[in-house]
Amino acid sequence: EQSFEYIKVSTPRTGVAMIELNRPKALNALFTPLIVELNKALESLDKDPSIGAMVLTGSEKAFAAGADIKEMAPKEFADAYGADFIENWSQLYNTIKKPIISAVNGHALGGGCELAMMCDILYCNAKANFGQPEIKLGVIPGAGGSQRLTRAIGKSRAMELILTGKNFSGQEAFDWGLAARVFETPEKCVEGALDTAETIAGYSKIAVKACKEVVNKSQDLGIREGVEFERRVFHGLFGSEDQKIGMKAFAEKQKAQWKHR
Ligand code: CAA
Repeated sequence: EQSFEYIKVSTPRTGVAMIELNRPKALNALFTPLIVELNKALESLDKDPSIGAMVLTGSEKAFAAGADIKEMAPKEFADAYGADFIENWSQLYNTIKKPIISAVNGHALGGGCELAMMCDILYCNAKANFGQPEIKLGVIPGAGGSQRLTRAIGKSRAMELILTGKNFSGQEAFDWGLAARVFETPEKCVEGALDTAETIAGYSKIAVKACKEVVNKSQDLGIREGVEFERRVFHGLFGSEDQKIGMKAFAEKQKAQWKHR
């Protein structure tokens, strides 16, 4: 059991881990100690065979109000470039193989918005407050915002938001396709994320892992290579017990009892 200062880790449902960002005094502003804890937790949950999916959330007030401006303010170019500042924030996207659903309530600004977008599925409350306000600080998004927001909602809208620093609501995030679902209250948002995570955790871990891998590949590959990649992974799954179990259960009108669950 690891103990953390800036996050809370729990297992509210069978097979489901929840990570809550917990730095209330700074509206969950993201600073190095918090990111280090988050990465540690993600890494161990990713390895934990009892966990099939994860939910990442904040408080009702803030998912995360961005990178810690006070921590960043004194940095020089050599500090930022030399230490590749913010690079380790992408561990969630770069190394975690299990699905992560972000449940966004309250502020999700700058790095907070970026962290939410790194997750595999984004859910939010209608009143959540998203934005990439970095322009107001004399900088630009630094943890993938310019790339992920643009892919999610299109160039013109993303350009407008990033150039003006204007915030947008959870309802807008849903209407524009950034969020998969929008909820009326913060509680419903978290419960909705847990429900979906529980559904995912009920499937074969091998198939779930492959689903995430192929969908993510679509972000990096052209359509021809992407479809080819998908087909190869699909072929590979015929070597898994769970393909046999799943298809046999269908034919016998039974519920599949997955080997890799
Ligand atoms: N960094 C450091 N501290 C922060 C913070 C941040 N990003 N956001 C909030 N806080 C702190 C405040 O300084 C304040 O601390 P004190 O009580 O010690 O003064 C505390 O959290 C509560 O905040 P407010 O009093 O400001 O709360 P509010 O309800 O009046 O306003 C808010 C909420 C609109 C979110 C406002 O706090 C705000 O604008 N925060 C900054 C948002 C921002 O610009 N984020 C982008 C950061 S840049 C970035 O993320 C770069 C990147 O791409 C990685």
